[in-house]
Amino acid sequence: MVKEKSEVLLSIHNLETRFGSRTIHHGLDLDVYRGELLVLFGGSGTGKSTLLRAIIGLDKAAGGSIKLDDEELSELDDKGWREIRRKIGYSFQSGALFDSLTVGENLEYPLREFTKLPAEERKASAVAMLARVGLPGIEGLYPSELSGGMQKRVGMARTLMLDPGLILYDEPTAGLDPANSKMIAELMRELKESGKTGILVTHDVACALSVGDRIAFLHGGKISVVQTRSDLDKAPDERISAYMNGEIE
Ligand SMILES: Nc1ncnc2c1ncn2[C@@H]1O[C@H](COP(=O)(O)OP(=O)(O)OP(=O)(O)O)[C@@H](O)[C@H]1O
Ligand SMILES: [Mg+2]
Repeated sequence: MVKEKSEVLLSIHNLETRFGSRTIHHGLDLDVYRGELLVLFGGSGTGKSTLLRAIIGLDKAAGGSIKLDDEELSELDDKGWREIRRKIGYSFQSGALFDSLTVGENLEYPLREFTKLPAEERKASAVAMLARVGLPGIEGLYPSELSGGMQKRVGMARTLMLDPGLILYDEPTAGLDPANSKMIAELMRELKESGKTGILVTHDVACALSVGDRIAFLHGGKISVVQTRSDLDKAPDERISAYMNGEIE
C-alpha cells in the first residue's frame, strides 16, 4: 500500500511535450512512488502513450523535468539513456515483436543488446520467462503463429527480461479476452508484490481498479487529479468517476 510519506522514484515537473506546433502536455506534474502501481486514465489522444514515451526518451520533452531516482533525464547523453532503458521496461501498446525472429529470439534480444550472458543462459532465461507468463514451450514459434493475446503476453515477457525496476504498461489488456486480461492483471500484481514500480495506462476500468494503488487522470495536457484507491472508494473525484462512467471521452 502507498503510505503518505512514500519515497518518490519518478518525479515529473512542469513537463511540456509537442509535436510540431501542437502542444500535447503543458505544465504536467506527477510523482510516482517506489513500489506502487499508478494507473493513468485519460481520453483517447490526450497523450498517455506520449507521456510514457517521454519517460523513456523515445519522444523528447520540450521542457520541464523528469527525474528518476533524482537523476535528471533530460541531461543524459546517449550512454546515459541506454542505462535508463535498462532500468525502465516499456510494454508497448502494440506487442512490437520482431516478426522475423522466433519468440525465444525476441525474448533474448534485450539480453544480447545489454548483457554479456552466454547463449545457453540467454536461452534458459527466455524459456523460464515464457513459463512465467503462462506460455511455456512456445520459444520456437514465430509471432505470426500466435494469437493477439499471446503476442501481448510475449511482449510483456520481453519487457521483463532485463528485470526493470520501473515498468510502463501501455494498455496491456486492450483487445484481450477475459482470461488473458486476468492473466496480465495477475502478472502486474505479482510484479508489484515483488517490489516493482509501475505506471499502467489503460481503458480497462476493472483491471485498473483491481491492481492500481493510485489513479491519475490526464486531461487538458496535465494531470488534473490523483486519488488513492481507498479515497476513490470513499468519495470518487467527479472527473475520475465521469471518465469511468464513459461521460468523458
Ligand atoms: N509521432 C507523432 N507525430 C505527431 N503527432 C503525434 C505523434 N504521436 C502522437 N501524436 C499525437 O499526440 C496526441 C497524443 O497521442 P497519444 O498516442 O499519446 O494519445 P493516447 O492518450 O495514448 O491515446 P490512446 O488512448 O488512443 O492510445 C494525439 O493527438 C496524437 O495524434
Ligand atoms: Mg496510447
